Amino acid sequence: PENIGILAIETYFPRRYVDQVELEKHDGVSAGKYTIGLGQSKMAFCDDREDINSICLTVVQNFMEKNKIDYSNIGRLEVGTETIIDKAKSTKTCLMQLFTDSGNYSVEGIDTTNACYGGTSALFNACQWVDSSAWDGRLALVVSGDIAIYASGAARPSGGCGVVCMLVGPNAPLALEFPLRGTFMEHMYDFYKPNLSSEFPVVDGPLSVVSYNKAVDKAYIRYLEKLEKHTTVAAGNGQKASLDDIDYLVFHSPYTKQVAKGFARIMFNDYVRNPQNPKFAELGDEFAQETLETSLSNKLLEKAFIKVSKADFTAKTDASLLAARNIGNMYCGSVFFGLSSLLTQVPSSELQGKRIGLFSYGSGCSASLYSFRVTGDTQEIATKLDLRKRLEDRICVAPKEFEEIMKLRENTHNAQDYTPGGDVSTLLPGTYYLEKVDSMWRRSYGRV
Ligand code: ACO
Repeated sequence: PENIGILAIETYFPRRYVDQVELEKHDGVSAGKYTIGLGQSKMAFCDDREDINSICLTVVQNFMEKNKIDYSNIGRLEVGTETIIDKAKSTKTCLMQLFTDSGNYSVEGIDTTNACYGGTSALFNACQWVDSSAWDGRLALVVSGDIAIYASGAARPSGGCGVVCMLVGPNAPLALEFPLRGTFMEHMYDFYKPNLSSEFPVVDGPLSVVSYNKAVDKAYIRYLEKLEKHTTVAAGNGQKASLDDIDYLVFHSPYTKQVAKGFARIMFNDYVRNPQNPKFAELGDEFAQETLETSLSNKLLEKAFIKVSKADFTAKTDASLLAARNIGNMYCGSVFFGLSSLLTQVPSSELQGKRIGLFSYGSGCSASLYSFRVTGDTQEIATKLDLRKRLEDRICVAPKEFEEIMKLRENTHNAQDYTPGGDVSTLLPGTYYLEKVDSMWRRSYGRV
């Protein structure tokens, strides 16, 4: 099979959000801390009517209906998530309810977990399945997303919620460039969820930022090595691969300011590899002695490289931040909402033949920079996503009510023999919701 990759995408995010300007006032922090400091406008959230199973049910069923695909045509489905509500039973098996009428129980794939990275691993698995002798000719679904909630405090405004469903198969308009993949993984306690009775992670915020930036460095260098090995790199850089070889670059976005920092790291790498590039003339030799290792906590350098990368950031990355700014972190969903935003904001005609890089980061840590080549029309994907309109058509909730709903989730997390109190009337038609958790913790769902 040729051009294996993403054929279609659907997203789901909750209809309710809290405005970050309002949240700044409510939290009594300085104006601009969340909107400029983190680069966030709105944060989506859900009450106790939704859980990881329900949001995945919603996105898969909506995807299948919208794209008129029969469940019997699916031979693989896997889920990337870190929103764990059961230590043994996967969300994938819950999604098998949707296959019942088709009689198709022959569906490979299961859940994959490591912070925000699970969906990337699931996508690689699905593409590799189609590329392998194990492929049986059917299509694959990759479901990737999370409910991102932090304890109240500095990290809370960096929450969010969203999930994507992607159809994987041959002859795709977004073709995965198989050999071009830069991966970096190491042991790190920057963000983890050791308390299994709580929905909240334990976060070392400053360490998570350094770890993200370091992972950008390592994955990017490895990716460039692959570019040099497998492709003819863009002229003008002394045969060295650089950002010039990547037309668009989508990042995992915990909050969009971090993406600007990640992009600045990419620029700094290019500077280290080729300081003579005219792009860097304005910097003089101020940072000539800095190495990748010494520079990770250098704020002056970070600011200088955010500034010097501004034009490239606007051209290659900014369009991908539409959903991230307006929804917040979606952990496993984030990088694919970035891709969906890019397809929404850049016309298909402009994307033809272009390379789209994706940087995926999961704390702990696991990261990959990889890419797609646009080999077909992306307009239909964008039209069906209808992202801009759906982002506008939402309900703004006051911070006080948001806090009450977060408290409700906290108090009812892991509850047994429980009927959720959340308001079903706020959900859009087609949304699944948690009806009940019975005395044996079995969950049942309804659909609006
Ligand atoms: N106006 C403009 N900017 C402001 C204002 C203001 N009024 N107040 C603060 N800022 C800026 C700060 O200068 C700082 O800028 P910098 O990043 O350029 O240094 C930025 O806002 C953040 O403020 P801090 O005080 O440094 O940090 P804060 O206590 O707000 O915490 C953090 C931020 C650590 C990111 C927190 O939100 C967090 O822990 N989030 C979860 C972890 C996370 O998302 N990590 C990212 C990678 S890992 C992952 O994906 C989960």
